This record gives sequence, structure tokens and C-alpha cells, in this order.
Amino acid sequence: MFKRVTGTRDILPGETELWQNIENISRSIFACHNYREIRTPLLEDEPLFNRSLGETAEIVQKQMFLIQREHDLFALRPEGTASIVRAYIENNIDKQQGFVKFYYMGPMFRAERPQKGRLRQFHHIGCEAIGSYGPGIDAEVIALAHTLLKAYGITGYCIALNSLGCAADKQAFTASLREKLKDRLSVLCEDCQDRFERNILRVLDCKNEACQNVIKELHIAGSQRCSDCESHFTAVRAGLDSLHIPYEVAPNLVRGLDYYNRTVFEFKHSGLGPQQDALGAGGRYDGLVKQLDGPDTGAIGFAFGFERLLLAAGEQAPAQQADLVYLITLGDSAKTAGVKVLADIRSAGIRADTDYEGKSLKAAMRTANDLQARFVAILGDDELKDGVIALKDMSNGSQEKILMTGLVGRINELGRLRKMNDAL
Ligand code: HAM
Repeated sequence: MFKRVTGTRDILPGETELWQNIENISRSIFACHNYREIRTPLLEDEPLFNRSLGETAEIVQKQMFLIQREHDLFALRPEGTASIVRAYIENNIDKQQGFVKFYYMGPMFRAERPQKGRLRQFHHIGCEAIGSYGPGIDAEVIALAHTLLKAYGITGYCIALNSLGCAADKQAFTASLREKLKDRLSVLCEDCQDRFERNILRVLDCKNEACQNVIKELHIAGSQRCSDCESHFTAVRAGLDSLHIPYEVAPNLVRGLDYYNRTVFEFKHSGLGPQQDALGAGGRYDGLVKQLDGPDTGAIGFAFGFERLLLAAGEQAPAQQADLVYLITLGDSAKTAGVKVLADIRSAGIRADTDYEGKSLKAAMRTANDLQARFVAILGDDELKDGVIALKDMSNGSQEKILMTGLVGRINELGRLRKMNDAL
């Protein structure tokens, strides 16, 4: 028997409605903030990620799903930002619009060790605002993520905020960190000893207790920022303060990807467990567009992990579906006419189904029950001759015979019948 690949999940009806709910909330909130959806391929040339995230980034070093086909090396996208910047440049969007706001949802792939909240195929909901250096958009993007979480009904998270400064600041910070850590190397965990060589900033957000103790003693204060970056960060914080968005400045927050500079942030939720407590994260990547051969321009974005949003939202009542009308036809003529009756009900936006097996009335009623149909419409050859149909309301057992032409109207009248579109 085939099984799903480790670290992937089947999302079944019952749960898909919860996903749709989050998707719909997100779409409407993104639209209010003037973001438009972008969809990029799941497959990209591998060097795109290598160049964007940095060849020393953990994702690039260890976690990419690679596909070699003849002379080409492809990667299943591990994140969305690099692809979106590629699409922005390749489609000349920078030449048509100076500043754009994109949102996206979809699967990402990372070959991590699967555990709660950590999958090999997971999903992002995120956004990217490309074309501005202004701190106003930083505050807006963080506020937008906060608004989304509130709208999903998620509480109990905190926002960690930091500024990495510009490229020169990052370089100076890296050098001073290397100096401070070089004598403590033996105390650090194996991963951090490796990080010391190839991605030293990542040592700062290592979850290992021994590493955390060393880091605490370093008293990192973010003091390496130049005056421009310091004023930018002050303006971002002022923007958040004026919106009354609570956050904590976290000088140790560095994020693992090369493209980040200045503002970085993480939405942390204790309910997810200590190893992966981030509901989502993001930051500025002012150098990336230029690095991928586009114009020199600022950009910022974030992504939530969809599966982690669902974990944090906790047990939720199963999403209600629109009421179902179940059509039972008895006899050959009724069966033929029933096709049109069913189509008419559905085209009125009402969820409807029928029996395709030619079951007896008793067996078909049982199916209607199993499907929790709110209404059963029964059409026999005799009724068809008279142009009538029986309609049973399963919520109270009442049954009536009505004109076939009045069926949709009567169904609408009887129930507070939610239409398909309302339920979606
Ligand atoms: P990231 O922090 O790598 O950032 O991923 C964002 C979120 O995706 C994480 O905070 C987490 O919730 C979720 N996530 C990551 N890996 C997994 C996994 N293996 N299983 C389940 N969930 C996971 C980025 O990817 C950046 N592109 C975000 C960004 C957008 N920065 C600027 N714009």
C-alpha cells in the first residue's frame, strides 16, 4: 500500500474548510491593504535560491529538494520571496509600476526533520511590498500581519523586532561577533560550531541552552547600526507605537537568510513548542532586487506558516457547510427529468446531490441521512406527469407536494438556506 511521503500531509474535507476560511479572511484583508495575488511556479532554477538566500544558509545547504534533469538543476521552492523578486524583474513589473504589493499562498518544500509544526511540504501565506525604502511600509507590513492573526482568532503571540542595519553594519556586527565567540567555540553546540564558520549570525538564535547561555553573556545590544539605519529603526518603532501594536525589541533576532537587512521580525507563539515557535516571520531585503539583476530598490515582506496558524488557532468547530438538497428519482422518466431538476437547484447556488446507483427509496433515504441532507426532493414518474415533486424537510420531518417549477423558490423560503458562496 502506498503511503504519503514523510513530512507531507493530506488535507481532507472537514479540514479543508478551515483552510478555506483562513484563505478567505486573508484575501479580503490583503485586498483592503491593496495587495494583489501573485502565483509563481513551484519549480525554479536552483541557483535562484542559492544566490538569494545565500549559499551558507541552512535551507540552501541542507534542505532543498533538488531535481537534476539532464543539464539543468531545479529546486522545489523552499520559500516565496526569491521567486517573487525573480517574477518582478522577469516580467518588467518595475518598469510599469514603481511600487507593488503582492500576496501569495501555497506550498513550500524543505527537507527538514519532520515534527509537530515542521513539515517537508508546508504552506505559506505571505506578502511582499517591493519598491520602497520608507519605514512607513515596514510598520504597515507588521501591522498587517498582526491584523491577519487577530482576524484568524489567534491570540497569545508576541512580536519580536530587530534591525540588522545595512550591509556594512551587518559586516561589522559579524566581525565583532566572530571576535567575541572565538574563545567560546568549544562550549557551543555542534551546529553552532559549524555556523561559526559559515553563518555566524545564526548562532544568536540557536535554541540550545548552552549556546543561549554564551549568547546572554555577550549582551548584544544592536549598537552596531549606523545613524541612517538607527533613524530608520526608530521610525519603524514610532509607526508601530502609533498603531498601538505591541512588540519587543530582540537584539538577538537575526533570521537565517542572507537577503535580510534593516527591519526583521518574528511572530512567536508559545503554544507551538520551544523548537519552532514562529507563526511567521519576515523583514526587509533591500539588496535582493538588485542582486538578481533588477533595479536598486527597497522591499519588505513576511510569511506565515499555514499549518502553524492552524495549530495556534487550536480546536475549532468544524466549519459548517451549506445545507444539502438530496434528489431521489424513482422510475426511468423521473431519472431523466431529474438531471435538469438537479442542475436547476445547483444553478440557484444551492448545494445539491443525487443517487447515481438507482437505489430503492429506502436505501436512497438512508444515503440522504448519512449525508445529513437538510432537504430530500423525491420525484417519481407519476409526480412528473403532474409536474409536481415531493419535498421533505429533514429538520422537522414535514413533507409537501409542490409544483416542480416552484421547487427552488420553496427551498429558499423554507430554510435559512445558506448559498454555496456564503459557505465558502
Ligand atoms: P521563514 O521564517 O523561513 O521565512 O518561513 C516563514 C514561516 O514559515 C516560519 O515562521 C514558519 O511559521 C513557517 N515554516 C518554515 N519552515 C517550516 C516547516 N518546515 N514546516 C512548517 N512551517 C514552516 C521565509 O520563508 C521568508 N520568505 C519570509 C519573508 C517574506 N521574508 C520576507 N518576505
